[in-house]
Amino acid sequence: MGCYKILLVTIVSFLFLVQNTKGWGDDGHVIVCKIAQARLSDAAAKAVKKLLPESANNDLSSKCSWADHVRFIYPWSSALHFANTPDVCSYKTTRDCKDQKTGIKERCIVAAVTNYTNQLLDFGSNTKSKYNLTQALYFLSHFLGDIHQPLHCGFLSDKGGNSITVHWFTRKQNLHHIWDASILDTEVQRFHDSDMDEFIDALQQNITKVWSKEVEEWESCISNDIACPSIYASESIEDACEWAYKDAPEGSTLKDDYFLSRFPIVNLRLAQGGVRLAAILNRIFDNDTIVNVDVI
Ligand SMILES: *[C@@H]1O[C@H](CO)[C@@H](O)[C@H](O)[C@H]1NC(C)=O
Ligand SMILES: *[C@@H]1O[C@H](CO)[C@@H](O)[C@H](O)[C@H]1NC(C)=O
Ligand SMILES: *[C@@H]1O[C@H](CO)[C@@H](O)[C@H](O)[C@H]1NC(C)=O
Ligand SMILES: *[C@@H]1O[C@H](CO)[C@@H](O)[C@H](O)[C@H]1NC(C)=O
Repeated sequence: MGCYKILLVTIVSFLFLVQNTKGWGDDGHVIVCKIAQARLSDAAAKAVKKLLPESANNDLSSKCSWADHVRFIYPWSSALHFANTPDVCSYKTTRDCKDQKTGIKERCIVAAVTNYTNQLLDFGSNTKSKYNLTQALYFLSHFLGDIHQPLHCGFLSDKGGNSITVHWFTRKQNLHHIWDASILDTEVQRFHDSDMDEFIDALQQNITKVWSKEVEEWESCISNDIACPSIYASESIEDACEWAYKDAPEGSTLKDDYFLSRFPIVNLRLAQGGVRLAAILNRIFDNDTIVNVDVI
């Protein structure tokens, strides 16, 4: 009897765990990290491999949702996943980069990207870093994804679309989640036979063919900064206004009109996230080039 009970509890907890850790929202992060890892220089690829635990099998994407899973054990990290504005369509670090609950400055995704970029520069130095660089890699990889999701730099009053309830075709959903997952899900189902690998291939092909002229511009930062997160955040809030919030008021039903005009934006932001994560990691771990870090 006791044994069966334990077995049952184990199975139920396992199912619960699987459901909890493998949410749809993870797909966007897997895509960004797979695109990035395939673009790493030899030096960066070696460093990433060294920072990943054996169990990850050198697959960075398997750790790119780690930051979501530690939000509860590291409550201080929650504020680092986004940067919302006071309902205006432009981002400003001095005004917007703070923990909205406590008002503490520099607690937002833009500062976090700079923070973990700086920490990773300790890699390969002679003195041991005071930071856990494996965690720094997980955080940086995750936040590079998030910062490209338009509604992670949305409006304060609706929590980046979290408090706007709409219908996604027939299903009740909040607008933030539609941009985290639903648009992508619908696209992969409808155009790629629900085959995520095929979708990633298609996106990678577009990076080298359709966007080949823009890629260099995505990768570069002004004045040789290693990362320029305030630019990525500015692009996101502009997209949030132009595409996410537009024609999606509380209570509306979003269907093909919305889906067909928005999925190309999701594709572009995922591609930019992956390309830029690789460019940043390459600049961090390639020590031939002299670089500055974006000062905030
Ligand atoms: C920088 O990283 C450390 C270690 O994870 C963390 O304690 C700190 O809150 C971070 N600061 C910002 C601005 O992200
Ligand atoms: C660094 O963080 C990783 C991931 O959380 C953990 O597995 C590892 O034990 C940590 N390393 C140290 C030295 O604390
Ligand atoms: C790739 O580019 C083509 C042509 O612009 C476009 O129709 C398609 O939706 C894009 N696919 C992805 C996954 O970016
Ligand atoms: C930095 O350069 C030194 C000397 O060329 C080399 O030994 C080291 O591996 C490099 N570190 C990284 C992280 O590439």
